[in-house]
Amino acid sequence: MTSKTYADLVRATTDDTSTSETADAEGDTRRGQTAVQKGLAGIVIAKSEICSVNGERGSLSYRGYDIGDMALHATFEETVYLLWHRELPTREQLDGFSAALAEERDIDDTTYSILTVLPNDVEPMDALRTTVSALSCADADDGDRCPDANLLKARKLVAKFPTIVANYYRHQRGWRRIHPDPELGHASNFLFMLRGKAPSERQTQSMNLAMLLMAEHGFNASTFAARVTAATLSDMYSAVTTAIGTLKGPLHGGANVRAMKMMLEIGHVDNVEPYIRAALARKQRIMGFGHRVYKTAPDPRSAYLRGRLFELCEEKGDLHYYRIATAVAETMEATKGLYPNVDFYAAPVLYLLGIPLELFVPVFAISRIPGWTTQVMEQYANNRLIRPLAQYVGPAHRPYKPIDAR
Ligand code: CMC
Repeated sequence: MTSKTYADLVRATTDDTSTSETADAEGDTRRGQTAVQKGLAGIVIAKSEICSVNGERGSLSYRGYDIGDMALHATFEETVYLLWHRELPTREQLDGFSAALAEERDIDDTTYSILTVLPNDVEPMDALRTTVSALSCADADDGDRCPDANLLKARKLVAKFPTIVANYYRHQRGWRRIHPDPELGHASNFLFMLRGKAPSERQTQSMNLAMLLMAEHGFNASTFAARVTAATLSDMYSAVTTAIGTLKGPLHGGANVRAMKMMLEIGHVDNVEPYIRAALARKQRIMGFGHRVYKTAPDPRSAYLRGRLFELCEEKGDLHYYRIATAVAETMEATKGLYPNVDFYAAPVLYLLGIPLELFVPVFAISRIPGWTTQVMEQYANNRLIRPLAQYVGPAHRPYKPIDAR
C-alpha cells in the first residue's frame, strides 16, 4: 500500500466533486432511502433560530438582524450578546456584559503552563485545541449541563480565546506573558496582547468588523461538528474542541492563510491573470473562493471586508493589496464564475492589521467561538442524537476463514 501525503489527501478530497449518487447495493440504508448526498449537501437536519444564510439572495442575518447593519453599527460584544440572549442589549446590559467578559478574560497559571510545555513548533491551532480541552479540567462547573452553567462556560471560552492565542504566540517567541487590559474591549485586547501596545481606534474597528462578520454562519463544518458532539450530550468544552479541529482544515478556516500566501506570491497586479489561469489549468483550488451555500450570489460578508481593505490601503497611501485582491476576484468570476467567500478579503485585512500569518486561522476561531457556543446551547435545548446512514458498497457477505486457512 502506498502511503499518501497530506497534499494527496487534500487533492483526493477536492478532486472528487460528485455530490449525489443513487444506491443500488444492499447496505445499512433503509429501502426507499438510498440517495447519497455526499457532504450532506442540501440536507436540512434541524430548525434553528440563530442565523439565516440565504445562498440565492446572498444574504445573512444574525437573529433577524442583517449582517450589513451589524457590520456598520455593532461591536463584537453586542453581537455575542445578541447570539446568546436573542436580543440586542440596552446600553446598561452591554456594559454589564462587557464587564463580565473582561472578568473572565485572563487565564490562570495552570492554563498558561500548558501553553509553555507544548513543543515550540506546535501550530497555534493545535495549541488552542489542546488548551481549550484542558480548560474543562479547570472548570468546577464542567459536570453541570444546565443552561445557566453552559452560558457561563460559553462566556469563559469567548473571553479566554484571544488570551490563549496571543500568549502562545508570545511564548513561541520567548516574549513575556501578558495579561489582558481591563480598560480595553475584546477586539482591542487581542491586538494589545499580541503586540504589547494598545491599537489605534481604526485598527480596533477593523478587528471588530472582521470578528463580527465571522462570528456565526449556520451549519458550517465546524459548527456542525460541535453540534454532533453536543448531540451525544457530551460537554461544551468537548464540543468546542471538536469545532477547533474541524475549522483548521484548508477547505474551511484554513483557507484564509492560504489566500494571503497566494496574494503574496502573486506579488503584483500584472501577475494576477496568468497566475490564476495557470493554477486553474493545474486543477488547483483557489483558496477564498467558492462556497457550499453561496453558489449564485456573492458571500455578503466579503463586500464589507473588501470595503475595509480599501480604507486600510487608502490610509497607508498604497492600494497594492486592494488591487491584487480585486483583480483575483475579477479573474475568478470571469473564468470560473466563482465569488470570493469571507476568507478571501478577510486575509489582507488581517495582514494589514499586522496579524502574523500563522494566527489567521486562530483569529477565525476567536471570531467563531460565539457561534459555536450558541449553536451548542441550541442543540442541547432541542436535542436528538445526530447519526446519519452510509450506503454500504463493500464486499458482499462472505464466510469467515480461520487464520490458518487464509
Ligand atoms: N477554486 C477552483 N475551483 C473551485 C473552487 C475554488 N476555490 N471552489 C469550487 N470550485 C469548483 C470545483 O472544482 C467544482 O468544479 P467542477 O464542477 O468543474 O468540478 C465546482 O466548483 C463545485 O465545487 P464543489 O467542491 O462541489 O463545491 P462544494 O460546495 O463542495 O465546496 C468549498 C465548497 C468551499 C469547499 C469549495 O468552494 C472550496 O474548496 N473552496 C476553496 C476553499 C475555501 O475557500 N474555503 C473557505 C470556505 S468559506 C469559509 C468557511 O466556511 O470556512
